[in-house]
Parts: sequence; C-alpha cells; structure tokens
Amino acid sequence: MTADFTYYTPTKVVFGKDVENQIGSLIQEQACKKVLVHYGSGSAERSGLLDKIVASLKEADIKHVLLGGVVPNPRLSKVHEGITLGRKEGIDFILAVGGGSVIDSAKAIGYGLFHSGEVWDFYSQKRPITGCLPIGAVLTIAAAGSEMSNSSVITNEDGDLKRGANSEYARPKFAVLNPLLTYTLPTYQTMSGAVDIMMHTIERYFLGGESMHLTDEIAEGLLRTVVHFSLVLKENPEDYDGRANLMWASSLSHNGLTGAGNSERGDWAPHQLEHELGGMFDVAHGAGIAAIWGTWARYVHKNKPERFARFGERVFAVKQTGNVEQDALEAIDAMDEFFRSINMPTNLKELGIEPTKEQIDTMTEKCTFFGKRTLGSVMVLGKKEIHDIYTNAL
Ligand code: NZQ
Ligand code: ZN
Repeated sequence: MTADFTYYTPTKVVFGKDVENQIGSLIQEQACKKVLVHYGSGSAERSGLLDKIVASLKEADIKHVLLGGVVPNPRLSKVHEGITLGRKEGIDFILAVGGGSVIDSAKAIGYGLFHSGEVWDFYSQKRPITGCLPIGAVLTIAAAGSEMSNSSVITNEDGDLKRGANSEYARPKFAVLNPLLTYTLPTYQTMSGAVDIMMHTIERYFLGGESMHLTDEIAEGLLRTVVHFSLVLKENPEDYDGRANLMWASSLSHNGLTGAGNSERGDWAPHQLEHELGGMFDVAHGAGIAAIWGTWARYVHKNKPERFARFGERVFAVKQTGNVEQDALEAIDAMDEFFRSINMPTNLKELGIEPTKEQIDTMTEKCTFFGKRTLGSVMVLGKKEIHDIYTNAL
C-alpha cells in the first residue's frame, strides 16, 4: 500500500569530469557577497582541488575566506570557529569542499550564522531550526549523502556526544560531483563509504510498516549497483564507471528517493547504534555500521523474516529454500560475507575496538538519550536490547 509523501530535492546536481571549474558561475547564480570555503584536513589541498576552487572564485570576482581543518566525526569546536569567523567576515554563503564531515560542519555553521545563541541547541533538540545560510558542496568522497540530504551530524567534545539535526533548510543549493576527485581515496574510505551508501537505503528498506513497490525496486537496484561496483573498485580504484556509480548512488540513497511512498521513515537503529561508536571511539562511520549491522539483523530478523529473505534474493541472489527463517539468516550471512570481501568489519573487534563492560553501559545510556528514547521500527529497541546488541557485536 503506497503512503502519501513529499519529495523535496532542491539541490542542483552538476556531475562529471572537471565540473569543479564551474564553481564561480554556480555561486554567481546564488547572488551572494562573500563565501566561506570550508574543507578538511589536507586531501583537498594535496590534490590541488582547493587551488582550482579559489581560481574559479577569483575569476568570477567572488570574495571568499578559507576555513580548513574539519576532521572525520566533525567537532563542535570547529563549528564554533566557523560561526565566529563567518560573523566577523560577513559571510552569506558556505561552500563545503570535502565529504560528509565537511558538509555537515558547513550546515552547522550555516545554522549558527542564521540564528543567535548556541548552535548545539539544535543537535540536542532544545530549539527548533528556523533557517540556515545557503550551502553548496564539492564532493570528494561518495558516502554520507550529505550533498543532497537534510541532515547534519556533529560531535560535541564535551561528553563525546555525536548527534544529528535535520531540517529542509540545510539541503545544499548545489552539489558538484566529479567522480575523478574520489580516485585519491584510501581503499578503506572508499569501502566504508560504499557501506554507508548501502545503509541509507537499507535503513529505509527494513521497516515495520509497508513499502511502495517502485521504491523497493529502486532500492534493490541501487544496492546491487553498489555491491557490484565496490568489487570492481577493489580491483581497480581508477575505474571511472565504478567511481561514477558510487557517487551518484551516494546522493540518491540519502535524498529521500529510496524511502518515498513507504509508510514510515524506516528503521535507523544501526545508524543510531553507530553514532555512539563514532562519538566515543572516533571510527569511520560506514565501517562502524558494518561492524554492527549483522548483529542487529540477527537480533531483529524474526519480526520481518520475509523482508530479510527478499533482500537476500534480490540483492545477493541467495537461492530461496522456502524456509523463510533460514532464507532470512542466509541473507544476513551474505551481507556479512560481502563486508568481508571488501575488507569491512563484521564485529567490533574487527573494527579495531574492544569496549569494556562499563563502556558498553555508557554507550547504551547515551544511545537511549539517557532513558528518553527507544530505537528502531522492525523491532523497537529499549535499553536491554541496545545493551544486548552492543555486547553481541563484540
Ligand atoms: O579531511 P580530509 O583530508 O579531506 O580527509 C578525509 C577524511 O579523512 C578523507 N577524504 C575525503 N575525500 C578524500 C579523502 N582522502 C583522499 N582523497 C579524497 N578525495 O576521507 C576521510 C573521511 O571523510 P569524511 O568526510 O569523514 O567521510 P564521510 O563522507 O563518510 O562522512 C562521514 C560523516 O558523515 C556523517 C557521519 O556520521 C560522519 O560524521 N553522516 C552524515 C550524514 C548526512 N549529513 O546526511 C548521513 C550519514 O548517515 C552520516 O551519519
Ligand atoms: Zn550513514
């Protein structure tokens, strides 16, 4: 049964080789006066991308200031730095050059510059978001989908809390997607990104309610595509079609397309479980989800075995036995097998962390927002279930 939906994707996508040279004219279209160019911890400088962006801005006679140094699991302190700089310089547009971390940091600065007061209020859900400075993105890693999403995830060093804030105001005005820019990625980041791309669709695919037929077909096609091209890129990181397919999948997987017409948002427990891993242990986001997904799936599959079985058949061509419980478990095994084939972890030890019992207690507390929320939709997870999953994932 198809549910009503609103599909809002205001982001202009410019895709292909050398499209970053169009930055000057893309920003001219936004009629802004001064741009904050925001970037990460070195890759955009090393590759020469930052120089190209600055040249394009100068050619278009657009004033700008630079702010680099965003780290993975982007920090609130850098966001504060950006807000202070943005106020001082009279910034009215933010250009993010990097991956999800840089784009999310740009969105947070955009919230901070639009509102007065403490920006963390939006991430701790103390105040509603009422606007954001306009953002543009030059993407350098296919992963988080922040280039078209309404989401931003920031880590507050005070308490190592990693929290998201969502609003339609933060969807970028444009996304510049050149697959060639991702050739310099370390394989681990490429594969961690591939997992995250899959997860944004999988979180919507596994739901307690009903889904739309067309959306299921789009989701399964996207997942097969990412599986196929991850394996291609493992052999040849400079396969242009592989890079191009992953990049476009990154954007489509998290812009709402793969959840449209479904009766609810999806499950999202694996993402929320990972946020505590990222906040406390600073792991790569996609790898963190890979390490927890199989444990989550085995824990909840009995509530939706037919959905897991279909996933196995459609995405990994798992031969169906007719025993839906067995087919569901084989689907989960197939997913873990795929993770192993791209050198992604399937438990916390493989992820490189071994939380103590006390740390698992702390993660569980944080994950429930100190007793204020449950997770999930295939199965509703409370404190006990969350604790079980972290423990089983060891
Ligand atoms: O900082 P630099 O030097 O650029 O290095 C980065 C970083 O170390 C490097 N990198 C990026 N592009 C590169 C490159 N290295 C070489 N060549 C390139 N072309 O890769 C590392 C990871 O970058 P990061 O931006 O952290 O990766 P990703 O895009 O996976 O973003 C992860 C963050 O996004 C959040 C995650 O929680 C995490 O904090 N998410 C954001 C979402 C959203 N806004 O919609 C949704 C996601 O579910 C996710 O939660
Ligand atoms: Zn994600």
